[in-house]
Parts: sequence; C-alpha cells; structure tokens
Amino acid sequence: MRIDIISCQPELLTSPFSHSILKRAQQKNLVEVHVHDLRQFAINKHGQIDDYAFGGGAGMVMMIEPIDKCISGLKAERDYDAIIYMTPDGKTLNQNMVNQFSLLRNIIILCGHYKGVDERVRQHFITHEISIGDYVLSGGELGAAVLADAIIRIIPGVLNDESSALTDSFQDGLLAPPVYTRPAEYKGMQVPEILLSGDNPKIEQWRFEQAVARTKQRRPDLLGEQ
Ligand code: ADE
Repeated sequence: MRIDIISCQPELLTSPFSHSILKRAQQKNLVEVHVHDLRQFAINKHGQIDDYAFGGGAGMVMMIEPIDKCISGLKAERDYDAIIYMTPDGKTLNQNMVNQFSLLRNIIILCGHYKGVDERVRQHFITHEISIGDYVLSGGELGAAVLADAIIRIIPGVLNDESSALTDSFQDGLLAPPVYTRPAEYKGMQVPEILLSGDNPKIEQWRFEQAVARTKQRRPDLLGEQ
C-alpha cells in the first residue's frame, strides 16, 4: 500500500512514521508513506498557499491551485483509490472504515488548515471526508497520522502476532476483554483463576463474556442498545 499525505506542516508528520510499528511496516515494504509539502506548490515565491475568504470573514482559506498541482502530479504517476480530506465536518472514523481503507492500494490524505480548503477542492478532487472526532484540531496532520496508523497496523504482516489485530476492540463489534500478565498475584490482587487454568475453550468463553459485559456497560451503542 502507498499513502501520500499532503500537508502545509510536513514536519508534524515526521515523527509518527519513524518509530515502532509504522517504521517497521515501511522497512518490511508493506507500506510506503510519502509526505508532500504543499508549499512546494505555492502560487508565488513567497510560498503563498492560502488567501482571504471571498465574502469576508475571519480566517484564511487554502487555495485550490497548489492542491490541484500536488494532486495532479501524484495522479499522473499512478491511480489512486481514495483521496481523503481530513476535516472536523467529515464522517467520523470507525474501525469498519479503517478496514475498508486498508484494502486499497494507493491513497492520498489531504490535511486541512485554517478555515479549511476552497470548497471546489472538496467537490472535484476529494472522494472521502474524514473526521477523527467531534472536536477541532489545529490542522489535519494529527488526524492524518491517526488514520494512517490505524490503517497500517492492520495490513497483513505488519504486526508480529498475526492474530493480535483481529482481537482488537471493535474488530468483532465488541470492546476487547481485560488482559493480565505476570505475576499471578500482586500485593493481594489476583488474576482471575480461569486464565491460569490452561482450559482454552473455557478461557475463550470467559473472554467473550467479559467482552460482551464490558461493551454493554461502556458502549451499549455498539450493541444497538441505549
Ligand atoms: N482537522 C481539524 N479537526 C479535525 C478532526 N476532528 N478530524 C480530522 N481533521 C481535523
């Protein structure tokens, strides 16, 4: 998979992709992440990429021309399955959407800033608009990093323990059950006996029941309840 991220603050995106799982995924050639500095496509030598909003009002608007140049250049090289715009008024990201994106070959993620992008970009270039939650970030970069992380970690081969992504919260519509590790007793606090029993079918049953109970208590909406 190839992910191209377009940003006017590309330095914000250096760190997330140079550590741990995301770094390893790139080293294993399971994913390529390319960050593009929108200022390289500025309309003048001052690096201008935004301008005042027609009709007045506070805040700058990202111009169509630099974004068009950047996206058109990428599209001339390869086909893209999705061109995603990170914006608080997009569709709220969930695991189902992440799973769908992880099946694609090439995607572009455009990070918004200021008052957002010229609406014509959204109308003519963007295929998906994604929010990572009902709050406003100072730009789309952290949202893009969240989206890319969620996608990359479920690409087959990225996690060492293949089964581990399948037992994540949300993958089966439930929150994950509680987990414990050694020691079996710490300052009088015990690990549930069943987990030490070695009886795998019983352990699986217990985990399922715990996952359902936890979901009912914390996220009844996931079970279609109120
Ligand atoms: N840009 C600003 N706020 C955002 C959000 N909540 N999700 C995605 N992109 C954003």
